Amino acid sequence: MARKKVVALGGDGVGPEVVDATCYVLGNAGFDLEIIKPPCGEAAMKQYNDAFPEETRQLCDMADAILFGATGTTSIAILAYLRWFLDNYVNIRPVKYYVGAETCLKDASGIDFVILRENSEGMYSFAEGDLALLRQKLADFRTIMGKSLAGFGEGKFALRIVSERGTRRFAKYACEYATQRRKNGYPGKLTCVTKSNVLRQSDGLFQSIVEEEVKKYPKLGYEHYYVDDAARRLLRYPRELDVVATENMFGDILADEASELVGGLGIVGSACVGGKVAYFESVHGSAPDIAGRNIANPTATILSAKLMLDYLGMHQEADALERAVAAVYKDGKNLTYDQGGKATTMECAQAVLAEIG
Ligand code: NAI
Ligand code: MG
Repeated sequence: MARKKVVALGGDGVGPEVVDATCYVLGNAGFDLEIIKPPCGEAAMKQYNDAFPEETRQLCDMADAILFGATGTTSIAILAYLRWFLDNYVNIRPVKYYVGAETCLKDASGIDFVILRENSEGMYSFAEGDLALLRQKLADFRTIMGKSLAGFGEGKFALRIVSERGTRRFAKYACEYATQRRKNGYPGKLTCVTKSNVLRQSDGLFQSIVEEEVKKYPKLGYEHYYVDDAARRLLRYPRELDVVATENMFGDILADEASELVGGLGIVGSACVGGKVAYFESVHGSAPDIAGRNIANPTATILSAKLMLDYLGMHQEADALERAVAAVYKDGKNLTYDQGGKATTMECAQAVLAEIG
């Protein structure tokens, strides 16, 4: 197997701290990876007045995978490139409990499900504007209640786009993903989450396309919940979930909520796939409230790197990394403040590396 090339982009806030800590683990664990850290984010903005220099972008295009920290306000162009330009339309967000993590439940043992979030459209289609424009273009439009757009007065709109193509490719991916989970010993059940009772056309389409696709996979279980009910169920019955498939904004919100089951935002990693070059990032953002203090939990980025290793076909390395994280949590001596510990970002990373051995 050719040596895989990984571009690591810290971005903003705690991003560089958690990416550096993760690269420290990857670089010293003896994994056969070439890790490149080109300038980006707040540091590049200071040095070159450009958060995403052209050379950095070119390196991303040539990479086998990209590890990303987080964006605050400075690195938005990086995130836009990785997610929308490279067209990574599926965001895989595993919610898995490691013994010793600071769960919000009395007992989180056995929680192990995945949120698949449509990552390219829905509420995050970046189609916003003045109501006046909409009113002008859609003079004859009436809501289900018979109200014209003029009836709203002045204001803004946001389009929540659910395209057939966008939903179909996401639904196919979700079915394949659940099938793979089933082969790995999981139930193989898809839980579709929408608000199709209110958003009858847009979420109605999302739900019906997911149902059409899932019918092609008779071995998969299937259920559907409205998002408000799903938000409650994932707290009350988290062990009944296997693979949740949902729209962009719902997935964004539900994943932050779900993270608390297994220790919070410091823990949950993700993979953004389906596009030209896949990238891997924590679920959390730039955490400006704790940035620059070497106290951020690197686990979410380390577990994102675990997903990256799996994606690159380096399954043994991925397993070794995950086992090391599990061992550090079980031991409990090198956890960061969010997990009730006193370890710094780097101390936590060093403990993970020591467990890889
Ligand atoms: P956030 O996820 O950055 O932080 C929320 C809370 O979780 C904060 O109290 C923070 O200290 C804590 N936290 C986050 N990561 C942690 C870690 N590794 N260890 C310990 N504690 C951690 O979300 P917030 O504050 O809503 O947004 C901050 C910025 O991040 C905003 O500019 C937002 O737009 C951006 N953001 C970027 C994302 C991305 O890059 N994909 C995702 C989410 C937010
Ligand atoms: Mg989010």
